[in-house]
Amino acid sequence: MCGIVGYIGYRDAYPILIKGLHRLEYRGYDSAGVALINNDSKLSVYKAKGKVQDLEDFAKDKNITGTIGIAHTRWATHGEPSNANAHPHYSQSESLALIHNGIIENYTVLKAELTSKGYTFHSSTDTEVLVQLIEYIKSTNHCDLFTAVQLALNQVIGAYAIAVIDKSDPDQIIAARKSSPLVVGIGEDEFFLASDASPIVEYTNKVIYLEDEEIVVIRRGEEPKIVTISNVVSTPHIQELKLSLSQLEKGGYPHFMLKEIFEQPETLQSCMSGRINVEGTNVTLSGIIDYKEKFVNARRIIIIACGTSWHAGLIGEYLIEEYCRIPVEVEYASEFRYRNPVIFPDDIVIAISQSGETADSLAAIELARKAGAFVYGVCNVVGSSIPRNTDSGSYTHCGPEIGVASTKAFTAQVTVLAMMALAIAKEKGTIEKDVYLKILKELQNIPNKIKEILKLNEDIKNLSSIFTYAHNFIYLGRGYSYPVALEGALKLKEISYIHAEGYPAAEMKHGPIALIDNEMPIVAIATNNAIYEKVVSNIQEIKARNGRVIAIVSDGDETIKELADHYIQIPSTLECLDPLLSTIPLQLLAYHVAVHKNRDVDMPRNLAKSVTVE
Ligand code: F6R
Repeated sequence: MCGIVGYIGYRDAYPILIKGLHRLEYRGYDSAGVALINNDSKLSVYKAKGKVQDLEDFAKDKNITGTIGIAHTRWATHGEPSNANAHPHYSQSESLALIHNGIIENYTVLKAELTSKGYTFHSSTDTEVLVQLIEYIKSTNHCDLFTAVQLALNQVIGAYAIAVIDKSDPDQIIAARKSSPLVVGIGEDEFFLASDASPIVEYTNKVIYLEDEEIVVIRRGEEPKIVTISNVVSTPHIQELKLSLSQLEKGGYPHFMLKEIFEQPETLQSCMSGRINVEGTNVTLSGIIDYKEKFVNARRIIIIACGTSWHAGLIGEYLIEEYCRIPVEVEYASEFRYRNPVIFPDDIVIAISQSGETADSLAAIELARKAGAFVYGVCNVVGSSIPRNTDSGSYTHCGPEIGVASTKAFTAQVTVLAMMALAIAKEKGTIEKDVYLKILKELQNIPNKIKEILKLNEDIKNLSSIFTYAHNFIYLGRGYSYPVALEGALKLKEISYIHAEGYPAAEMKHGPIALIDNEMPIVAIATNNAIYEKVVSNIQEIKARNGRVIAIVSDGDETIKELADHYIQIPSTLECLDPLLSTIPLQLLAYHVAVHKNRDVDMPRNLAKSVTVE
């Protein structure tokens, strides 16, 4: 949440910063701002409520010269979205400007102290307190900016990625991180700074991922210097980026979300590539092979995640319990971290996260590690905090996901979990060889079957136009389709702002059936599986109460097609892999309903892609 960018070099900073903010806009988009040390050594801060485009409109006739600057796109935590609360924030003397991603938890105490010393505040943010504190320390201790930042961060409780510039020293940016990501890009005579690598990749592929509590001093003409807040000097570890610019663009699609839905045949291929052998008879995940004894002897697996990743975790539970016979619990990371859970040293905790930066998931991991559990990460963003804070793991390899609503990351997470279940089951001897081979073979057919489903895009678009009137939706599924129902409902609500509930179909009669009338659309995932007949009965119950059923059915289905008001027919697959197919029409349905309602699909209100605050 919140994106930060910085530049120091020989080019004009402003266009680089603005482009970087556009790339990071998925992290927050309620206000944006930029600070530049202009060519005449003035420190100018321009801020605007709204999106980065609003900032551009505001700044177009201002002095935007300068080869050093920092910029920010905000997702409000403390203080409403407004010009005053937008970052960067000036210090009292307007000599310093600072941007921040995270939360300073003890800001009220610090603010009271600074107020008593005559400091005044112009925003309701925690961030302004930090810049004032740095200036206060710098002036009272007569120290340099680096020392002031270091001392200030020692007083701060909370999470931060910050960057600060000082008009009296236009050759330096100081940045630091704790629990919020920060990447330094190393170019020729220029440096970049960003919350992730997307603003940097255009200029250099050499990066340093800062670790928690590290401060980096970036000075023109010198190598970056990294020192921790406890004053330990670190050796910068320069890594090579494996990200291409085309992955960050819409490639002709109207929205990133649609592009990412359509990418799924390729992303799942790339997720399986190198893991399933060429004969298609064996799956190897190095993260599991390296620790196979742990998996074979695990007392229990606890899956922790948030949002869509939590839904993938539920599917993981079904897969692992069915094929590995290991008990699995799936927990919201935000609940797990605060409820004093029982964690045994022979438990395995699997943390699932697209971004690898979700604050609650990181805190849950820390808790699990303290309790001695082995922690395995399933993440998409390479080099993000979760892979760096876990014992082992598997990347989902689906490329950057930019649309705020998660689509391709979800199917890649489910694919990794299916491969994990197969690999562990084989090691444990809990799966018959023919079942193992059958699932593996079908897994490799999934990308082509998704291609078939994507051909239904126009039909689903037409269908979606019927339902823009609705204020509520219900999504129903059973077994492996229950998490898909939850995921379908989440997709719809987050981008169309229509209230939607996912339910296990048989739970309807325990309450929600009271909601059904002839206006209520009910999306029933009714593909061909072991409990198909039960789902048919559930649909009968809904039709008896005049509900409007949109059914997702398997090819060849005749019964539900007769019963439902509308149906979407998808290829058949094995029950345990069905979520990989039945999710696709639900993603498209949510997308088209939102487009019909003129919603901002890629940047829905109040949301941000990477939830780095709890
Ligand atoms: C929904 C969505 C969110 C995320 C959740 C976890 O479309 O994107 O619910 O799934 O915020 O994020 P990650 O997976 O990055 O930990």
